[in-house]
Amino acid sequence: MADVTLRQIRKDYGGVQIIHGLDLHIKSGEFVVFVGPSGCGKSTLLRMVAGLETISAGDMHIGEIRVNELAPRDRDIAMVFQDYALYPHKTVRDNMGFGLRLRKFSSAEIESRVNNAAETLQISHLLDRFPKALSGGQRQRVAMGRAIVRQPKVFLFDEPLSNLDALLRNQVRAEIKKLHRRVRETVIYVTHDQVEAMTLADRIVVLQAGRIVQVGTPDEIYGRPQHRFVAGFTGSPPMNFLPARLAQDGDAMTLHIANAKPLLLPSSLAQRWRSHAGREVEFGIRPENLSLSQQHGEWPTIEAEVELVELLGAENLLTLKLGAHELKARLAPQVRPSIGARLAIALDPAHFHLFDLQTGNVIQP
Ligand SMILES: Nc1ncnc2c1ncn2[C@@H]1O[C@H](COP(=O)(O)OP(=O)(O)O)[C@@H](O)[C@H]1O
Ligand SMILES: [Mg+2]
Repeated sequence: MADVTLRQIRKDYGGVQIIHGLDLHIKSGEFVVFVGPSGCGKSTLLRMVAGLETISAGDMHIGEIRVNELAPRDRDIAMVFQDYALYPHKTVRDNMGFGLRLRKFSSAEIESRVNNAAETLQISHLLDRFPKALSGGQRQRVAMGRAIVRQPKVFLFDEPLSNLDALLRNQVRAEIKKLHRRVRETVIYVTHDQVEAMTLADRIVVLQAGRIVQVGTPDEIYGRPQHRFVAGFTGSPPMNFLPARLAQDGDAMTLHIANAKPLLLPSSLAQRWRSHAGREVEFGIRPENLSLSQQHGEWPTIEAEVELVELLGAENLLTLKLGAHELKARLAPQVRPSIGARLAIALDPAHFHLFDLQTGNVIQP
């Protein structure tokens, strides 16, 4: 177990800067997920921790040791890749033990570590098989076993579930989480999938174009996004965004969303945003914070037209039209309005988000 510290870490490829001076401290035993769209630099960053990419500038520490110039094998890390990279001509047992054999561990120690890891991963019955006789999920478990037997200070995962089908992905995801509960090792896990990030992470690092946009617990990232990009990247469907304007009306404050009737803001919000009266903003609200107005008489309401109703079993997803704009609402499964109906939609003021139109930064009270 070790902490990992990045100080002003940069990566240039042939004069083009890909990672722009990142600072991050990962605590010992913490499960940290790097999440962001394809191409934002997640793998590059992970490979720099692993020693598979050179570091163009900055300092990388694993524990007390500055590792910038250390070879991967000397960093005491183990990495699990998306494509498993198993040796086809070795059994599961030999695949798992191979790294230890190279490091001259005794046969008894290798056998004990492999057996323990196999038990943890529930693949003991597969130890004498070859990779071609395994399913995708089983191969992924062998790849994890190979990392576990090394007992590294830090585990690195690069999109390890991407090649699995949806059901298996959920299963293995839950297993990775349980495994971490048990071993409490430092994990850095890379994914483009926000659900994986939300479910696995102690802390999430949201990356965009080689920069950190926000670091926080899953609750913080979801409930208090500091940037429009974070708000729009999390949740399915993600947060709704609408153009809006804050206005002062005597002592009260109103919010003019698109072309809807102005909403009277509750006094707590009016106080928070008073200094921004007159400002054009981007209004954000998550689909689960919309409701039918009858149920929440005290919430501000807007009128919108039902464009689409999707029955998802446990809930219904409504697409609503507000002038030229679209809003998604997650409602109870018994709510089945007809297409074209005009509904009064209540908006939960406890979950209003306002973002700066130019920078995308959240508008603080
Ligand atoms: N070997 C390389 N040479 C030049 N550019 C690269 C190389 N590897 C990655 N890049 C670029 O760096 C950026 C980040 O890539 P990557 O770390 O793979 O992103 P992610 O894993 O988030 O999808 C991309 O724009 C990619 O094109
Ligand atoms: Mg990648």
